[in-house]
Amino acid sequence: MKILAFAATSSKHSINKQLVGYATRILENHHGPDVTVETIDLHDYEMPIYSVDRQNESGIPQAAHDFFGAIGEADAVLISFAEHNGFYTAAYKNIFDWASRIDMRVYQDKPTVMLSTSPGPGGGANALRAAVGSAPFFGNDLSGSLAIPSFHDNFDTATGTLTDPVLDAQLRSSLASLTTLSERANA
Ligand SMILES: Cc1cc2nc3c(=O)[nH]c(=O)nc-3n(C[C@H](O)[C@H](O)[C@H](O)COP(=O)(O)O)c2cc1C
Repeated sequence: MKILAFAATSSKHSINKQLVGYATRILENHHGPDVTVETIDLHDYEMPIYSVDRQNESGIPQAAHDFFGAIGEADAVLISFAEHNGFYTAAYKNIFDWASRIDMRVYQDKPTVMLSTSPGPGGGANALRAAVGSAPFFGNDLSGSLAIPSFHDNFDTATGTLTDPVLDAQLRSSLASLTTLSERANA
């Protein structure tokens, strides 16, 4: 079972990337040897800002096809959203806009866990809410969602682990539903 994982951020030193790294270790170490995680970086999918005019003039960039194809090849998807001004990042929105012009069902019915984190007490919950709320319109089979508040209080960057036991249990539960649902879909 192959899981596609990424942080929806434009930052090289992203805290959401660290969270994805921790979730990846849980998936690979505790969900059986057949679980593999492919982590992609949104920097590899940079494109001009989406516009209808640009699409009509030049078509859909290869990077959008590559992103859409990466989801298509996966059995399940794990995303952690950074929050910029109460929404998810322009970097992800741009990739998403281009990919949606290939097919509105960007998530292609893959079981998906959506996370978010930020340094503040909201934990990126606004960005997460926007992504979760719109997910059904984009072919998303949502398995779970979780916002991790106050990242620097709840995550040990030295060991790359979530330290709050309640949040950790919630994360592990969401990830378990991801692999269970995906196995059921492939049975
Ligand atoms: C332009 C900008 C807007 C931001 N807006 C928010 C916000 O609305 N809510 C929030 O919790 N944090 C906000 N932040 C702080 C981010 O949560 C913080 O930079 C975090 O590290 C982003 O996640 P990342 O490191 O995974 O990219 C903002 C940061 C930037 C640069």
